[in-house]
Amino acid sequence: MTKYDTQSFIKLIGENDEIYSRLKLIEKTIRYHINADATQPKKLREAAYHLIRAGGKRFRSLIVLLSCEAVGGKIEGVLPLCVATEFLQTASLIHDDIIDHDDIRRGVQSVHNKFGADLAILATDFLIFKAYSIISEYGNPELVNVISKAGEAITCGEAAELFMFPKDSTIHNRNEYLAMAQEKTGAFIKGAAHAGALIGNGDDDQIKALVTYGRFIGLAFQIRDDILDITEIHQLPKTAVNSDLKFKRANLPLILALEGSTENQVQRYIQALENHDYSYIHDLLVETDAIAKAMTIAHSYIKQAQAALEGIELKHRSTLDHLAEMVLTRII
Ligand code: IPE
Ligand code: IPE
Ligand code: MG
Ligand code: MG
Repeated sequence: MTKYDTQSFIKLIGENDEIYSRLKLIEKTIRYHINADATQPKKLREAAYHLIRAGGKRFRSLIVLLSCEAVGGKIEGVLPLCVATEFLQTASLIHDDIIDHDDIRRGVQSVHNKFGADLAILATDFLIFKAYSIISEYGNPELVNVISKAGEAITCGEAAELFMFPKDSTIHNRNEYLAMAQEKTGAFIKGAAHAGALIGNGDDDQIKALVTYGRFIGLAFQIRDDILDITEIHQLPKTAVNSDLKFKRANLPLILALEGSTENQVQRYIQALENHDYSYIHDLLVETDAIAKAMTIAHSYIKQAQAALEGIELKHRSTLDHLAEMVLTRII
């Protein structure tokens, strides 16, 4: 569940004009695209563009754009690819909310909640095919391949998560979690960096560095997402518990809290989930310092992302560094 919109993200960006000005361009291009096809069925467009209109951080688009510019590419050339990226991101979230039974996304009703499952399914197809139609305009088979592989990985990661602890009550370790997070979230952020660098005509070293940058950022991004989800138990009343706990999803702080615990403690944890006894889980998280441990892991990935760019000829290096750091400080 993401409760915030683009405006809140702009506040997070703060003084960074380089990111802010690019975000505004991305936003403008998205709005242009979604207003352009007024001939297609109104309800379908409403469902497909509902979440896009609501906002979103446009984080993957920023990665596409900055990676393109980093290797010397022009902004104008890459903006349509940013739109396609947001269409795909939104499509994956529409499905994710169905899987996760989440009713709210980007501060508004999720698509299946507002329009029903039938339109949510069609809206997702619509966005995916629209994205590919934009991508095809580049006439670049490698680009199609990079984006398709990222899309495949999202579905594999989402499927892997379906069968992770505690749903099947077999404990999964952090490595299994990280493999899942790499596919579910890391692959698309990595793919965004790769795609941007391709469109900007980067050389092999530049592309390799940006792909590594995207891969590590992607992992840290999902860990931060887990932390934000789990820390909601400190803030919300008992009736509004965070969705990872409520729906028993894989979450790194929870996995870390259970590492090294006895069979008894694990059973107690499963019972607590069943009974919605979140105070036990809260205590476990505090005792094991699991949130700080997860932050340390995320932090090490951000350092590795930044290190991947060292010694490579890239423009706007400090902006790429800044964007990486925002993954750790983001609260949206
Ligand atoms: C990420 O999964 C969604 C996709 C990769 C499609 P989550 O379920 O962890 O994300 P949020 O918390 O709903 O945004
Ligand atoms: C949500 O992604 C799904 C995850 C992979 C965690 P974002 O947090 O980037 O969602 P938006 O696009 O900004 O709404
Ligand atoms: Mg979700
Ligand atoms: Mg999910």
